[in-house]
Amino acid sequence: MTKIAIHQAPLQGFTDHIWRNAFNAVFGGIDCYYSSFLRIEHGEIRRKDFRDIMPESNVGITFVPQILACQPDDAVAMVKRIADLGYNRVDINLGCPFPPITRKNRGAGMLSNPSLVENLFIALASVGSIDYSVKMRLGMHSADDWKHILPLFDILKPSHITIHPRIGAQQYKGHIDIDQFSLIYADCGYPVIYNGDITTLQQVEEVAAKFPKLKAVMVGRGLLYDPSMLCGGDNFAAIHRFHSMLLESNKDYLEGGDHQVLAKMLTYWEYLLPDADKSLRKKVLKSTSLLKYSAAVEDLFSKL
Ligand SMILES: Cc1cc2nc3c(=O)[nH]c(=O)nc-3n(C[C@H](O)[C@H](O)[C@H](O)COP(=O)(O)O)c2cc1C
Repeated sequence: MTKIAIHQAPLQGFTDHIWRNAFNAVFGGIDCYYSSFLRIEHGEIRRKDFRDIMPESNVGITFVPQILACQPDDAVAMVKRIADLGYNRVDINLGCPFPPITRKNRGAGMLSNPSLVENLFIALASVGSIDYSVKMRLGMHSADDWKHILPLFDILKPSHITIHPRIGAQQYKGHIDIDQFSLIYADCGYPVIYNGDITTLQQVEEVAAKFPKLKAVMVGRGLLYDPSMLCGGDNFAAIHRFHSMLLESNKDYLEGGDHQVLAKMLTYWEYLLPDADKSLRKKVLKSTSLLKYSAAVEDLFSKL
């Protein structure tokens, strides 16, 4: 295990409390987990999202709920609900690139509107007793947007800023702008976390060596491709155990029966073990029942 702290990048639809608990039980090594972003819909936080952050569902791990909001009132309402659960840390999402979100000036969409960020930070800073962190991109359409955002951090005084060095328009693909990241790393008066395209332990160590003052490295999709990556990777026995735990926990948790469990498990295979035998993987992905799914998965793991 590397010495730099590792934070888990939230991945909506994947890294819920079931994933976090299974990951912690089988692999460990994550210094901080985050929820996927909570947002206000029809006047409140979605019930499903709220259940995910309940303290009793996140025992034995360092866990920080994340919010996404543009309206200061929405953000403050969410922070207060979160604080009522006993949390004193909240992460602010200024990075989500999905067009339905950014079109409403939320997530990465806020980065080209510094006055929106300023108003948000002023409102959040007024809540008191909450330690904030921010997760952001370089910008929405320009890799220079961050230059207008950085001075605003003195309002919020975040404990750290996580940077994914792409712009929102790129979504999750294309060039990672390490030069712009280096500028933020040098200019930012707050601890910085690097996030983006880390899929091996060696890459964690390389980025930590290149930026020795980093507070942590945040890893997202790498943990979905190979959940054992932080232990060196390709530990198929451990990944198999992890998968079994996810399956059993989802069976216990989801109320919609086998159909819902199957749908949930299939989402993991959008990423899991991309280099496994193509036809065995296809069989898993084409499963039409939970029984067939389990058989296909066992077959795949037995041949790794
Ligand atoms: C399917 C998906 C869902 C995501 N959901 C969130 C989220 O809820 N909150 C957030 O801050 N970032 C979210 N992200 C962005 C990741 O946290 C991370 O910043 C991005 O994937 C880059 O890191 P990686 O290359 O290590 O995956 C999501 C990304 C993907 C692909």
